[in-house]
Amino acid sequence: MEKQKIILDCDPGHDDAIAIMLAASAPNLEILGICVEAGNQTLEKTGNNTLNLVQYLELNVPVALGSGKPLKRTPMTCAEIHGETGLDGFPFSLLKIKYHQQNAVELLKSLLDKNKDVTLVPTGPLTNIAELLIKYPETKKNIKSIVLMGGSIGYGNVSPAAEFNILCDPEAADVVFNSGLEVYMLGLDVTRKALVLPKVMKRMAKIHNKAADLFARLMKVFNENQLKIFGHSGAPLHDPATIISLLNPNVFKFQKMNVVIDTTGGPSYGRTNCDRFDYLHQPHNAYVAIDIDVKEYWNEVEKGLKRYSK
Ligand code: BDR
Ligand code: CA
Repeated sequence: MEKQKIILDCDPGHDDAIAIMLAASAPNLEILGICVEAGNQTLEKTGNNTLNLVQYLELNVPVALGSGKPLKRTPMTCAEIHGETGLDGFPFSLLKIKYHQQNAVELLKSLLDKNKDVTLVPTGPLTNIAELLIKYPETKKNIKSIVLMGGSIGYGNVSPAAEFNILCDPEAADVVFNSGLEVYMLGLDVTRKALVLPKVMKRMAKIHNKAADLFARLMKVFNENQLKIFGHSGAPLHDPATIISLLNPNVFKFQKMNVVIDTTGGPSYGRTNCDRFDYLHQPHNAYVAIDIDVKEYWNEVEKGLKRYSK
């Protein structure tokens, strides 16, 4: 089977960590590189977390840092959910690996110069991807699609209208959604249904390996923080939706529609305005996830964890 080449672009982040873990064990995916941006925490912290994950999972992929600040707006983080480190809850051992010498945009460019039909998988703010498309638009020819976690047809999770990844850098999201590339948006409408409920914790705890251990410890903290902020048990496991959509095309149902990012700076700043019923007859620029098979979602997570031998 020919593997789908992917580049991850993330801000770990508890759910980013699970996405990386599932991507690394996916039989149909090949990770060419991992780019990091600020988001859930500062760039220094999300970068450190990425290196820790790569070392722990024994992955042989370059990890490159982005610029660390959004295109225009002031930076924001999400310590309430992901903690002081951005990945509270796992005792990683001493870090021995280092960042790639190129920054995220340069690494993306060199990987796209050497590879065709690459899928970009952003699970954080879209700054790195937007910077790439602005600086090196010619790389688009080798991008097959962008499969991202972000946005919402409905309400937001950091403002009434906006989802965190998009609100962190609405101007970057605007560049990505207007790039003419094939964009798949997995937003809160579907990820809010993939809740790490106690029954999920119990099920994954039956797997005894390093991946299941990482899952158990990270999801414990993720759930506790989610309960404090949103008042419900079972945190939505957002970011792995991207990888699961590539692992099993039957888990999500997509509809192509017009999506406009609100960059006006008002109360809906960062909203993904999704014209699901085509009121405005504007070009359909994104495939938006409108449904999820929750049972299959957890089956894919379980299979992904089980693929780790030790
Ligand atoms: C997104 O925001 C971050 O906190 C998560 O990692 C996820 O990418 C959900 O809104
Ligand atoms: Ca994330």
